[in-house]
Amino acid sequence: MGHRRAFLQHLGLLGLSTASITKIFDQKKKFIPFASSEPMLMCSRGEYWGKKVLNPAWDVLIETNNILDAIETGANVCELDPTDQSVGYGGLPNERGVVQLDASCMYGPTHRCGSVASLENIKKACSVARLVMERTDHTFIVGPGALEFAKAHGFPEENLLTEESRLRWLEWKENMSDKDDWIPPADGVYIKKAKKGGTINVLGIGMKNDVAGITTTSGLFAKIPGRVGDSPIIGAGLYVDNEVGAAGATGRGEEVIRTCGSFLLMEKMRAGMSPQKACEFVLERIIDINGGLDKVDFNVKMIAMNLNGETGVASIEPEDHAAPYASIITSKGYKLISGKAMRSM
Ligand code: GLY
Repeated sequence: MGHRRAFLQHLGLLGLSTASITKIFDQKKKFIPFASSEPMLMCSRGEYWGKKVLNPAWDVLIETNNILDAIETGANVCELDPTDQSVGYGGLPNERGVVQLDASCMYGPTHRCGSVASLENIKKACSVARLVMERTDHTFIVGPGALEFAKAHGFPEENLLTEESRLRWLEWKENMSDKDDWIPPADGVYIKKAKKGGTINVLGIGMKNDVAGITTTSGLFAKIPGRVGDSPIIGAGLYVDNEVGAAGATGRGEEVIRTCGSFLLMEKMRAGMSPQKACEFVLERIIDINGGLDKVDFNVKMIAMNLNGETGVASIEPEDHAAPYASIITSKGYKLISGKAMRSM
């Protein structure tokens, strides 16, 4: 028996006539959420950051019933922590040694969004992105304009370059060419290597099936000043849809931008694909565009959740020699989830 017929028979047992089922699938042609979605928060990191970010975010959700406050609280934890060298304070700088942050925020019930890019001297980039969404008639503010806007809202200007990140940058600068005037130290010693990090996505479904998401990053290390990645681009590094769910990307932003990764993922979920399959679909598209896995020398990771409470995570490369992971938290507590790496381990 074909899958479709078996599925229809299964629904028939639930008391739905074939005519009404056909109506659901053929007329609406969109994802039909279960009525009983449970609140859930999701983060693109494993257990260490997953718990650090999601536990306080969950507390805020329970206290305030406000999904945006919850995910912002979680993302701020990472932005404010200098031990993470890929997000916020302590992020790795551009080729001139200046930290420039990108972030976005999107809210399902209003379908509104806000982003900042190339933002300097402000630690909580995602909070500024949220204010662009909530307190302007625009969606995207960049560079000095974003800094001015943040200052207008009372954010203090601070140096984002930590000693660890400065030394990491100096190491890059002094070793990138033997034809310039920068010379590495005689003993070749700089500093212990940075902890692994990466852009972070924090996604959530609140108490009223209200979906929201944040993506925040310091972007590519040693990037050309002004380079903007996928994180603040709505539809690339982040997308949410209140009828379907939420999706986010980390990794090489240029590839996610040219595939509209998070929007593509969302549309696949809307058409009925599971979050896991939809994450894999986007990565397959990226791999195809690049001429096959053999030609791919970068990583992209996609995460997603839908209103049924299903989740997905996939990356091109394995993570720590294992399947890629992400974290979720629900009323049942924290859970590490793992998905699929497109390149076998
Ligand atoms: N995904 C982060 C970036 O490429 O900037």
